[in-house]
Amino acid sequence: MPTGYRPASLILTAGPSITDLEVQYVTDAVQHGWNERWNEYLVRFETALAEYVGVRFAMATSSATGALHLGLLALGVGPGDEVIIPGLTWVACASAVAYCGAKPVFVDVDRQTWTMDPASLEAAVTPRTKAIMPVHLYGNAADMDAISAVAQRNGLRVIEDAAPSLGALYRGRKTGSMGDVAAFSFQGAKIASTGEGGMLVTNDPGIYERARRLNEHGRMDTGFLIGEVGFKYKMPNLVAALGLAQLERIEELVARKRRIFGWYRDRLGDIEGLQLNHERDGDRITAWMSSLVLDGQLAVDRDGLMAALRERCVDTRPFFPSIPSMPAFADPSLPLPVTERLAASGLNLPSGHDLTEEQVDYIARAVREVIGAA
Ligand SMILES: Cc1ncc(COP(=O)(O)O)c(C=O)c1O
Repeated sequence: MPTGYRPASLILTAGPSITDLEVQYVTDAVQHGWNERWNEYLVRFETALAEYVGVRFAMATSSATGALHLGLLALGVGPGDEVIIPGLTWVACASAVAYCGAKPVFVDVDRQTWTMDPASLEAAVTPRTKAIMPVHLYGNAADMDAISAVAQRNGLRVIEDAAPSLGALYRGRKTGSMGDVAAFSFQGAKIASTGEGGMLVTNDPGIYERARRLNEHGRMDTGFLIGEVGFKYKMPNLVAALGLAQLERIEELVARKRRIFGWYRDRLGDIEGLQLNHERDGDRITAWMSSLVLDGQLAVDRDGLMAALRERCVDTRPFFPSIPSMPAFADPSLPLPVTERLAASGLNLPSGHDLTEEQVDYIARAVREVIGAA
Protein backbone atom coordinates (compact mmCIF):
# COMPACT_ATOMS: atom_id res chain seq x y z
CA MET A 1 0.00 0.00 0.00
CA PRO A 2 2.72 2.63 -0.77
CA THR A 3 0.92 5.94 -0.33
CA GLY A 4 3.41 8.75 -0.83
CA TYR A 5 2.96 9.54 2.89
CA ARG A 6 5.66 11.80 4.38
CA PRO A 7 5.74 12.53 8.15
CA ALA A 8 5.23 16.17 9.14
CA SER A 9 7.16 15.59 12.38
CA LEU A 10 9.15 12.87 14.18
CA ILE A 11 7.15 9.63 14.53
CA LEU A 12 7.64 8.76 18.20
CA THR A 13 8.23 5.31 19.70
CA ALA A 14 5.34 5.52 22.18
CA GLY A 15 2.17 7.41 22.91
CA PRO A 16 -0.97 6.73 24.94
CA SER A 17 -4.54 6.21 23.76
CA ILE A 18 -6.82 8.67 25.54
CA THR A 19 -10.59 8.68 24.95
CA ASP A 20 -13.65 10.30 26.51
CA LEU A 21 -13.70 7.54 29.16
CA GLU A 22 -10.34 8.65 30.60
CA VAL A 23 -11.44 12.30 30.53
CA GLN A 24 -14.74 11.41 32.21
CA TYR A 25 -13.17 9.41 35.08
CA VAL A 26 -10.38 11.92 35.72
CA THR A 27 -12.84 14.81 35.64
CA ASP A 28 -15.09 13.01 38.12
CA ALA A 29 -12.10 12.23 40.37
CA VAL A 30 -10.81 15.79 40.37
CA GLN A 31 -14.27 17.20 41.06
CA HIS A 32 -15.55 14.66 43.58
CA GLY A 33 -12.71 12.33 44.62
CA TRP A 34 -11.96 13.96 47.95
CA ASN A 35 -12.91 13.55 51.62
CA GLU A 36 -15.10 10.46 52.05
CA ARG A 37 -14.60 9.56 48.36
CA TRP A 38 -10.80 10.03 48.48
CA ASN A 39 -9.96 6.45 47.49
CA GLU A 40 -12.95 5.39 45.40
CA TYR A 41 -11.01 5.09 42.14
CA LEU A 42 -8.05 3.51 43.91
CA VAL A 43 -10.25 0.71 45.24
CA ARG A 44 -11.99 0.25 41.87
CA PHE A 45 -8.66 0.19 40.01
CA GLU A 46 -7.09 -2.33 42.42
CA THR A 47 -10.16 -4.56 42.41
CA ALA A 48 -10.49 -4.51 38.61
CA LEU A 49 -6.80 -5.17 38.06
CA ALA A 50 -6.75 -8.11 40.49
CA GLU A 51 -9.74 -9.57 38.68
CA TYR A 52 -8.21 -9.01 35.23
CA VAL A 53 -4.88 -10.60 36.14
CA GLY A 54 -6.56 -13.37 38.13
CA VAL A 55 -5.00 -12.76 41.56
CA ARG A 56 -6.48 -12.17 45.02
CA PHE A 57 -4.77 -8.90 45.95
CA ALA A 58 -3.57 -5.73 44.23
CA MET A 59 -2.03 -2.59 45.70
CA ALA A 60 -1.57 0.53 43.60
CA THR A 61 1.84 2.23 43.87
CA SER A 62 3.62 5.24 42.42
CA SER A 63 5.76 3.04 40.12
CA ALA A 64 6.64 -0.54 39.31
CA THR A 65 10.06 0.16 40.83
CA GLY A 66 8.34 0.88 44.16
CA ALA A 67 6.16 -2.23 43.81
CA LEU A 68 9.27 -4.36 43.13
CA HIS A 69 10.99 -2.89 46.17
CA LEU A 70 8.02 -3.57 48.45
CA GLY A 71 7.53 -7.02 46.90
CA LEU A 72 11.14 -7.99 47.58
CA LEU A 73 10.93 -6.74 51.16
CA ALA A 74 7.67 -8.62 51.68
CA LEU A 75 9.45 -11.78 50.51
CA GLY A 76 12.02 -11.17 53.23
CA VAL A 77 14.89 -10.20 50.91
CA GLY A 78 17.62 -8.36 52.81
CA PRO A 79 21.37 -7.85 53.25
CA GLY A 80 23.43 -10.92 52.36
CA ASP A 81 20.78 -12.31 50.00
CA GLU A 82 21.15 -12.73 46.26
CA VAL A 83 18.33 -12.16 43.78
CA ILE A 84 18.73 -13.51 40.25
CA ILE A 85 17.63 -11.19 37.45
CA PRO A 86 18.17 -11.18 33.68
CA GLY A 87 21.06 -9.06 32.40
CA LEU A 88 18.77 -7.57 29.75
CA THR A 89 16.11 -5.50 31.48
CA TRP A 90 15.47 -2.00 32.76
CA VAL A 91 17.74 -1.01 35.64
CA ALA A 92 14.72 -0.80 37.99
CA CYS A 93 15.08 -4.55 38.63
CA ALA A 94 18.66 -4.25 39.86
CA SER A 95 17.94 -1.03 41.77
CA ALA A 96 15.04 -2.59 43.69
CA VAL A 97 17.29 -5.46 44.77
CA ALA A 98 20.03 -3.02 45.81
CA TYR A 99 17.52 -0.93 47.84
CA CYS A 100 17.01 -4.04 50.01
CA GLY A 101 20.75 -4.32 50.64
CA ALA A 102 20.79 -7.53 48.59
CA LYS A 103 22.94 -8.41 45.58
CA PRO A 104 21.54 -8.66 42.05
CA VAL A 105 23.03 -11.62 40.22
CA PHE A 106 22.67 -11.39 36.45
CA VAL A 107 21.89 -14.27 34.12
CA ASP A 108 21.56 -14.55 30.36
CA VAL A 109 18.39 -14.36 28.28
CA ASP A 110 16.84 -16.51 25.60
CA ARG A 111 17.77 -15.59 22.04
CA GLN A 112 14.18 -15.65 20.75
CA THR A 113 12.01 -14.33 23.58
CA TRP A 114 14.67 -12.01 25.08
CA THR A 115 13.60 -13.15 28.57
CA MET A 116 15.43 -15.07 31.35
CA ASP A 117 17.17 -18.24 30.15
CA PRO A 118 16.23 -21.05 32.60
CA ALA A 119 19.55 -22.89 32.05
CA SER A 120 21.56 -19.77 32.85
CA LEU A 121 19.33 -19.26 35.89
CA GLU A 122 19.91 -22.77 37.23
CA ALA A 123 23.68 -22.32 36.96
CA ALA A 124 23.58 -19.10 39.01
CA VAL A 125 21.81 -20.47 42.11
CA THR A 126 23.99 -20.38 45.24
CA PRO A 127 23.27 -21.00 48.94
CA ARG A 128 22.69 -17.22 49.25
CA THR A 129 20.03 -17.04 46.53
CA LYS A 130 16.72 -15.94 47.99
CA ALA A 131 14.56 -15.08 44.99
CA ILE A 132 14.31 -15.05 41.21
CA MET A 133 13.01 -12.07 39.25
CA PRO A 134 11.92 -13.07 35.73
CA VAL A 135 11.03 -10.11 33.49
CA HIS A 136 8.34 -10.15 30.79
CA LEU A 137 10.41 -7.89 28.56
CA TYR A 138 8.65 -5.70 25.98
CA GLY A 139 5.44 -7.72 26.57
CA ASN A 140 7.02 -11.18 25.90
CA ALA A 141 6.30 -13.67 28.70
CA ALA A 142 9.29 -15.30 30.40
CA ASP A 143 9.31 -19.12 30.50
CA MET A 144 7.52 -19.32 33.84
CA ASP A 145 7.11 -23.12 34.00
CA ALA A 146 10.85 -23.71 33.66
CA ILE A 147 11.67 -20.83 36.03
CA SER A 148 9.15 -22.00 38.66
CA ALA A 149 10.63 -25.51 38.45
CA VAL A 150 14.10 -24.10 39.28
CA ALA A 151 12.54 -22.10 42.14
CA GLN A 152 10.80 -25.17 43.54
CA ARG A 153 13.86 -27.40 43.30
CA ASN A 154 15.89 -24.83 45.25
CA GLY A 155 13.29 -23.45 47.66
CA LEU A 156 13.34 -19.95 46.13
CA ARG A 157 10.69 -17.25 45.87
CA VAL A 158 9.65 -15.74 42.52
CA ILE A 159 8.90 -12.05 41.96
CA GLU A 160 7.68 -11.36 38.42
CA ASP A 161 8.64 -8.08 36.84
CA ALA A 162 5.48 -7.78 34.77
CA ALA A 163 6.02 -4.01 34.38
CA PRO A 164 5.71 -3.89 30.59
CA SER A 165 3.38 -6.85 30.08
CA LEU A 166 -0.19 -6.09 31.18
CA GLY A 167 -2.40 -8.35 29.04
CA ALA A 168 0.32 -10.83 28.01
CA LEU A 169 -0.38 -14.55 28.34
CA TYR A 170 2.01 -17.39 29.13
CA ARG A 171 0.42 -20.72 28.12
CA GLY A 172 -2.97 -19.12 28.68
CA ARG A 173 -2.11 -17.56 32.06
CA LYS A 174 -1.76 -13.82 32.63
CA THR A 175 1.70 -12.53 33.38
CA GLY A 176 1.80 -11.34 36.99
CA SER A 177 -0.33 -14.28 38.22
CA MET A 178 2.36 -16.97 38.35
CA GLY A 179 4.97 -15.83 40.89
CA ASP A 180 4.72 -15.20 44.64
CA VAL A 181 4.35 -11.51 43.90
CA ALA A 182 4.52 -9.30 40.79
CA ALA A 183 4.71 -5.67 39.69
CA PHE A 184 3.08 -3.79 36.79
CA SER A 185 3.96 -0.33 35.49
CA PHE A 186 1.70 2.44 34.16
CA GLN A 187 4.56 4.81 33.29
CA GLY A 188 3.89 7.10 30.33
CA ALA A 189 5.08 4.80 27.56
CA LYS A 190 3.38 1.63 28.85
CA ILE A 191 0.50 -0.19 27.19
CA ALA A 192 -1.91 1.20 29.81
CA SER A 193 -0.56 4.50 31.03
CA THR A 194 -1.16 6.90 33.90
CA GLY A 195 1.99 8.97 33.34
CA GLU A 196 3.63 7.31 36.32
CA GLY A 197 2.21 4.49 38.41
CA GLY A 198 2.49 0.84 39.36
CA MET A 199 0.69 -2.09 40.97
CA LEU A 200 1.83 -4.88 43.26
CA VAL A 201 -0.17 -8.09 42.89
CA THR A 202 -0.11 -11.37 44.82
CA ASN A 203 -2.26 -14.32 45.87
CA ASP A 204 -0.61 -14.43 49.29
CA PRO A 205 -2.41 -12.52 52.07
CA GLY A 206 0.79 -12.37 54.16
CA ILE A 207 2.78 -10.74 51.34
CA TYR A 208 -0.06 -8.32 50.65
CA GLU A 209 -0.43 -7.27 54.29
CA ARG A 210 3.32 -6.89 54.71
CA ALA A 211 3.68 -4.79 51.55
CA ARG A 212 0.71 -2.65 52.58
CA ARG A 213 2.12 -1.95 56.00
CA LEU A 214 5.56 -1.11 54.60
CA ASN A 215 3.88 1.29 52.15
CA GLU A 216 2.21 3.03 55.10
CA HIS A 217 5.56 4.12 56.54
CA GLY A 218 5.47 0.97 58.68
CA ARG A 219 2.43 2.35 60.51
CA MET A 220 0.89 0.12 63.18
CA ASP A 221 -2.79 -0.64 62.48
CA THR A 222 -4.26 2.84 62.94
CA GLY A 223 -3.01 6.15 64.22
CA PHE A 224 0.44 7.58 63.81
CA LEU A 225 2.50 5.00 65.68
CA ILE A 226 5.31 3.59 63.55
CA GLY A 227 6.45 0.02 64.22
CA GLU A 228 9.38 0.01 61.77
CA VAL A 229 10.86 2.27 59.13
CA GLY A 230 8.69 2.03 56.02
CA PHE A 231 8.07 3.75 52.72
CA LYS A 232 5.51 5.78 50.84
CA TYR A 233 5.04 4.63 47.26
CA LYS A 234 1.40 5.69 46.96
CA MET A 235 -0.75 6.25 43.90
CA PRO A 236 -3.15 9.20 44.08
CA ASN A 237 -6.87 8.65 43.49
CA LEU A 238 -6.75 10.99 40.48
CA VAL A 239 -4.13 8.80 38.83
CA ALA A 240 -6.14 5.68 39.65
CA ALA A 241 -9.12 7.20 37.79
CA LEU A 242 -6.99 7.35 34.64
CA GLY A 243 -5.67 3.84 35.30
CA LEU A 244 -9.17 2.40 35.71
CA ALA A 245 -10.29 3.84 32.37
CA GLN A 246 -7.19 2.40 30.67
CA LEU A 247 -7.74 -0.97 32.33
CA GLU A 248 -11.37 -1.08 31.18
CA ARG A 249 -9.98 -0.70 27.64
CA ILE A 250 -7.01 -3.08 28.04
CA GLU A 251 -8.18 -5.70 25.55
CA GLU A 252 -8.67 -2.97 22.95
CA LEU A 253 -5.21 -1.56 23.79
CA VAL A 254 -3.56 -4.98 23.44
CA ALA A 255 -5.38 -5.52 20.13
CA ARG A 256 -4.08 -2.18 18.84
CA LYS A 257 -0.48 -3.08 19.73
CA ARG A 258 -0.81 -6.49 18.14
CA ARG A 259 -2.32 -4.99 14.99
CA ILE A 260 0.61 -2.56 14.71
CA PHE A 261 3.03 -5.47 15.15
CA GLY A 262 1.15 -7.43 12.46
CA TRP A 263 1.62 -4.54 10.02
CA TYR A 264 5.38 -4.55 10.71
CA ARG A 265 5.59 -8.35 10.45
CA ASP A 266 3.81 -8.35 7.09
CA ARG A 267 6.34 -5.84 5.75
CA LEU A 268 9.60 -6.90 7.48
CA GLY A 269 9.07 -10.53 8.54
CA ASP A 270 10.63 -11.95 5.36
CA ILE A 271 14.05 -10.28 5.70
CA GLU A 272 16.87 -12.65 6.50
CA GLY A 273 19.06 -11.27 9.26
CA LEU A 274 16.24 -9.34 10.91
CA GLN A 275 14.52 -10.83 13.96
CA LEU A 276 11.13 -9.55 15.17
CA ASN A 277 9.23 -10.20 18.45
CA HIS A 278 8.70 -13.93 18.90
CA GLU A 279 5.41 -15.48 20.05
CA ARG A 280 5.60 -19.00 21.50
CA ASP A 281 2.70 -21.37 20.74
CA GLY A 282 0.02 -20.88 23.40
CA ASP A 283 1.29 -17.42 24.45
CA ARG A 284 -0.04 -13.98 23.64
CA ILE A 285 2.64 -11.32 23.38
CA THR A 286 1.30 -7.79 23.77
CA ALA A 287 3.87 -6.37 21.35
CA TRP A 288 4.06 -3.39 23.71
CA MET A 289 7.10 -2.45 21.63
CA SER A 290 7.43 -3.80 18.10
CA SER A 291 11.13 -4.54 17.96
CA LEU A 292 13.93 -5.57 15.63
CA VAL A 293 17.22 -7.36 16.23
CA LEU A 294 19.88 -7.09 13.49
CA ASP A 295 22.09 -10.13 13.04
CA GLY A 296 25.34 -8.47 11.97
CA GLN A 297 25.19 -9.69 8.36
CA LEU A 298 23.23 -6.68 7.15
CA ALA A 299 24.64 -3.63 5.36
CA VAL A 300 24.17 -1.48 8.45
CA ASP A 301 24.44 -1.98 12.21
CA ARG A 302 21.81 -1.08 14.84
CA ASP A 303 23.15 2.40 15.58
CA GLY A 304 23.52 3.15 11.87
CA LEU A 305 19.93 2.09 11.25
CA MET A 306 18.68 4.25 14.14
CA ALA A 307 20.56 7.30 12.82
CA ALA A 308 19.32 6.79 9.26
CA LEU A 309 15.73 6.36 10.46
CA ARG A 310 15.96 9.53 12.50
CA GLU A 311 17.00 11.43 9.38
CA ARG A 312 13.74 10.11 7.90
CA CYS A 313 11.73 11.42 10.88
CA VAL A 314 11.43 8.00 12.57
CA ASP A 315 12.28 7.81 16.27
CA THR A 316 13.53 4.48 17.70
CA ARG A 317 14.94 3.32 21.04
CA PRO A 318 17.87 0.99 21.53
CA PHE A 319 17.26 -2.15 23.61
CA PHE A 320 18.18 -1.68 27.26
CA PRO A 321 21.95 -1.92 27.84
CA SER A 322 23.17 -4.99 29.67
CA ILE A 323 22.96 -4.10 33.37
CA PRO A 324 26.29 -5.69 34.39
CA SER A 325 27.94 -3.43 31.78
CA MET A 326 26.68 -0.32 33.63
CA PRO A 327 29.09 1.46 35.99
CA ALA A 328 26.64 1.24 38.89
CA PHE A 329 26.32 -2.55 38.62
CA ALA A 330 29.54 -3.51 36.85
CA ASP A 331 30.22 -7.22 37.03
CA PRO A 332 32.73 -8.23 34.37
CA SER A 333 32.99 -11.74 35.81
CA LEU A 334 29.75 -12.69 34.16
CA PRO A 335 29.82 -13.47 30.47
CA LEU A 336 26.28 -12.98 29.17
CA PRO A 337 26.73 -13.42 25.41
CA VAL A 338 23.08 -13.30 24.34
CA THR A 339 22.36 -10.30 26.57
CA GLU A 340 25.39 -8.44 25.17
CA ARG A 341 24.45 -9.23 21.58
CA LEU A 342 20.82 -8.19 21.97
CA ALA A 343 21.74 -5.03 23.89
CA ALA A 344 24.01 -4.03 21.00
CA SER A 345 21.75 -5.02 18.12
CA GLY A 346 18.11 -4.59 19.22
CA LEU A 347 15.83 -1.60 18.81
CA ASN A 348 12.23 -0.65 19.47
CA LEU A 349 10.29 0.74 16.51
CA PRO A 350 7.54 3.34 16.80
CA SER A 351 4.69 1.50 18.55
CA GLY A 352 2.37 4.22 19.89
CA HIS A 353 -1.31 3.26 20.06
CA ASP A 354 -2.40 5.82 17.48
CA LEU A 355 0.14 4.83 14.83
CA THR A 356 -1.56 4.30 11.45
CA GLU A 357 -0.93 1.61 8.86
CA GLU A 358 0.23 4.36 6.51
CA GLN A 359 2.91 5.37 9.04
CA VAL A 360 4.02 1.76 9.61
CA ASP A 361 4.22 1.31 5.85
CA TYR A 362 6.44 4.39 5.61
CA ILE A 363 8.67 3.18 8.48
CA ALA A 364 8.99 -0.34 7.06
CA ARG A 365 9.95 1.01 3.64
CA ALA A 366 12.55 3.23 5.31
CA VAL A 367 13.98 0.20 7.20
CA ARG A 368 14.16 -1.84 3.98
CA GLU A 369 15.83 0.99 2.13
CA VAL A 370 18.48 1.54 4.85
CA ILE A 371 19.37 -2.13 5.28
CA GLY A 372 19.45 -2.67 1.52
CA ALA A 373 16.38 -4.89 1.28
CA ALA A 374 14.13 -2.43 -0.56
C1 LIG B 1 11.19 -4.26 32.47
C2 LIG B 1 10.83 -3.08 33.30
N1 LIG B 1 10.88 -3.18 34.64
C3 LIG B 1 10.58 -2.15 35.44
C4 LIG B 1 10.22 -0.93 34.92
C5 LIG B 1 9.98 0.20 35.88
O1 LIG B 1 8.69 0.72 35.82
P1 LIG B 1 8.41 2.13 36.56
O2 LIG B 1 8.96 3.18 35.64
O3 LIG B 1 6.92 2.18 36.68
O4 LIG B 1 9.09 2.09 37.86
C6 LIG B 1 10.16 -0.78 33.54
C7 LIG B 1 9.80 0.53 32.95
O5 LIG B 1 10.15 0.83 31.81
C8 LIG B 1 10.47 -1.87 32.70
O6 LIG B 1 10.44 -1.78 31.36
